[in-house]
Amino acid sequence: MLILGIESSCDETAGAICSDGEIISNVVLSQIIHKQFGGVIPEIASREHDSQITTIIHKALEKANISLSDIQAIAVTFGAGLMGALLVGLNFAKGLSIALKIPYIGVNHLEGHLYASFISNPKMQYPYLCLLVTGGHTQIWEVQYPGKYILHSTTVDDAAGEAFDKGACILGLTYPGGPEIEKMAQNGDPEKYNFPIPKVKSNPLNFSFSGLKTALLYKIRGMSENDIEDNKCNIAASYQEAIIKSLLQRLTQVISITGIKQISIVGGVAANKRFRKLSEKLKDDLITEIYFPTSEYCTDNAAMIAIAGYEKLKKGIYSPLSLKANPNLPLNDGAIE
Ligand code: KG4
Ligand code: ZN
Repeated sequence: MLILGIESSCDETAGAICSDGEIISNVVLSQIIHKQFGGVIPEIASREHDSQITTIIHKALEKANISLSDIQAIAVTFGAGLMGALLVGLNFAKGLSIALKIPYIGVNHLEGHLYASFISNPKMQYPYLCLLVTGGHTQIWEVQYPGKYILHSTTVDDAAGEAFDKGACILGLTYPGGPEIEKMAQNGDPEKYNFPIPKVKSNPLNFSFSGLKTALLYKIRGMSENDIEDNKCNIAASYQEAIIKSLLQRLTQVISITGIKQISIVGGVAANKRFRKLSEKLKDDLITEIYFPTSEYCTDNAAMIAIAGYEKLKKGIYSPLSLKANPNLPLNDGAIE
């Protein structure tokens, strides 16, 4: 079955082709226009999607060496994400579904991230623990089988990706902040500064990142401009280390509570090389297997949507044209069952 995957939930316009569960093309356009604003401007994101989506879909078809008439089904993100941005992809998919007389399926963006791991690691088995770390979510899920997800941990304020983005903004770096901080941190000492790893009293398994961002702000305010410039790499490295330590601490706790030793780490932050390296230590101490998607499948892409959609379509599950975009769609809603 040839499936066209479409993703437009935030600031990536993406198209991918999946042939019987194998990704044969994956095209992503990151909207660089948001860099100047230090974050994604929803209205601009929608307009950019609208102007680029046709080109991106055609590129995905071209790279797969197929034409539009070869497509047998469409998988598209319908939430979570920015309402206007989601609507562009969803309406495009609905229109194409009517024009080509083929079915389409709405895919939960978060579930897409989970499935990204299977693209790179097809031998992954259920059950496993999934640490989902994106710009909007930081959660640990127990994935018992496809569609059966139990939440063990979530952030009570900012997501880890958001902590990278806001930290980068404080350091005068551009959006998205994760890759910028990672680059800067490569030449820095992660032990130079001590940033706190906030604990959540009401539930010690949960994450909190807003205090860390505030600690960075106060640290910067207490330094002279020269001192900041001389130590930017050290600050970035120490700040990044605190985010990573927080993620790995909670993950370790959930591993010991559940006894599940197969781990998958997905989402944009999972592209971070220092994070991937430090996670390997868990493997030695605690875990039998730890899986990451390759970096192109960590950040937003349509390949993960196509694969997640394939799992539903195989079971004969399609979406009605009345399906609505849902900016706050949780993982348990609209998941593959
Ligand atoms: O999964 P994603 O592409 O989009 C969402 O669903 O949110 O994640 C985007 C987030 C951003 O906050 C970005 O700064 C972060 O992932 N990110 C990274 C890296 N690449 C992207 N964070 C740390 N290190 C990276 N290399
Ligand atoms: Zn995402």
